[in-house]
Amino acid sequence: MNNFNFYNPTRICFGKDTISQLDQLVPKDAKILVLYGGASAEKNGTLNEVRQALGARDVSYFSGIEPNPSFETLSKAVSQVKAEQRNFLLAVGGGSVIDGTKFVAAAALYPGDTWEIMLTGGRSITQALPLASVLTLPATGSEMNRGGVITQRATQSKLSFKSDLLYPQFSILDPTKTYSLPAKQVANGVVDAFVHVVEQYLTYPAQAPVQDRFAEGLLLTLIEQGETAVTQTDNYEARANLMWTATLALNGLIGCGVPQDWSTHMLGHELTALYGLDHAQTLAIILPSMLAEMRQAKHGKLVQYAERVWQITQGNDEQKIQQAIANTRAFFERVGVKTYLKDYQLGSEIIEPVIAQLQAHKMTALGEQRNVTPEVCERVLRASL
Ligand code: NZQ
Ligand code: ZN
Repeated sequence: MNNFNFYNPTRICFGKDTISQLDQLVPKDAKILVLYGGASAEKNGTLNEVRQALGARDVSYFSGIEPNPSFETLSKAVSQVKAEQRNFLLAVGGGSVIDGTKFVAAAALYPGDTWEIMLTGGRSITQALPLASVLTLPATGSEMNRGGVITQRATQSKLSFKSDLLYPQFSILDPTKTYSLPAKQVANGVVDAFVHVVEQYLTYPAQAPVQDRFAEGLLLTLIEQGETAVTQTDNYEARANLMWTATLALNGLIGCGVPQDWSTHMLGHELTALYGLDHAQTLAIILPSMLAEMRQAKHGKLVQYAERVWQITQGNDEQKIQQAIANTRAFFERVGVKTYLKDYQLGSEIIEPVIAQLQAHKMTALGEQRNVTPEVCERVLRASL
């Protein structure tokens, strides 16, 4: 096992009717900015519950944070925070709203050009406003981690940033708030959480059996509950299990002391930035081809994945690996996320621009062994056509 330093200060308030706890969690004298996305938070009543729970506190609102939040929109929120001297940020929404709020928290106190935060991956952040979240979409884990992903529309750059200063102080996870989600977004959440686990698990053996078994437990739970969560809108237990699983998939715990991959995510971000695909759609396209392409380097873990997650006991190692990759693709399709570029009306014309953007963003040595080069990515894209 590798050395590690595990820190996670986010309080999780989980369950039905937990939004009312805002009254205890937010300081009475806070000058709050509530940030949210489009119409969903108002329509499903979440925003109203938040308003009521905050009571007589000084609150203003910023709406319009879009999926794959843009630097351009968030810069307007930064101006509002400064003009109104807000000192506490509350995100109400999915990963995009929470990520956007993290950016605003850092950018509002940033002395220079705020895009620098993204160019340094967050390393240049020295202070940030306190933030918290009310989660409405189980998927990203942003509610309990220190990272975010922001897109500069002008340059079609989707980049990630992280800082210990950006853990939410608390996150409220009420599974009933997910009932209004379209099936497509729930399916996206299942796939995103699944791939988060895979990026931290499916590398090479690192003598970290408890991390492996946590990861396998999360994958098995997603396989077991994913379809039910997608198809049964108000199945509380399925939604609750998906919500907690997605949080645990990327709150740092399973990544302690193990090598991590993230090549599928980095390649996926370029596809979203250039062609507007949902984050999880890009992962469903890339992951099966990436695993197939890297099957030599990932041999040991792929066999373990086949045996322990998919219970494949027949055949030789190569056959088990092949079957496990096929099962992964079939699982994504079964929950409702298509796995080929052609399903999104994209063809070989995208390969050159995607590779050029990877190079422009210095994503030229990805993966746990830094051997996922632009040439490898090109083969992965070809295999995903
Ligand atoms: O804008 P509104 O009207 O709120 O609608 C949203 C949005 O259109 C809707 N929605 C959210 N909650 C709802 C709801 N609709 C009905 N009922 C509800 N309860 O869902 C749509 C998608 O929302 P979004 O926040 O974009 O989805 P998600 O949570 O999947 O977040 C995706 C973003 O997170 C980033 C992705 O790159 C992408 O930008 N990621 C963040 C990570 C992190 N911070 O650690 C890691 C991930 O790998 C990921 O990259
Ligand atoms: Zn993701």
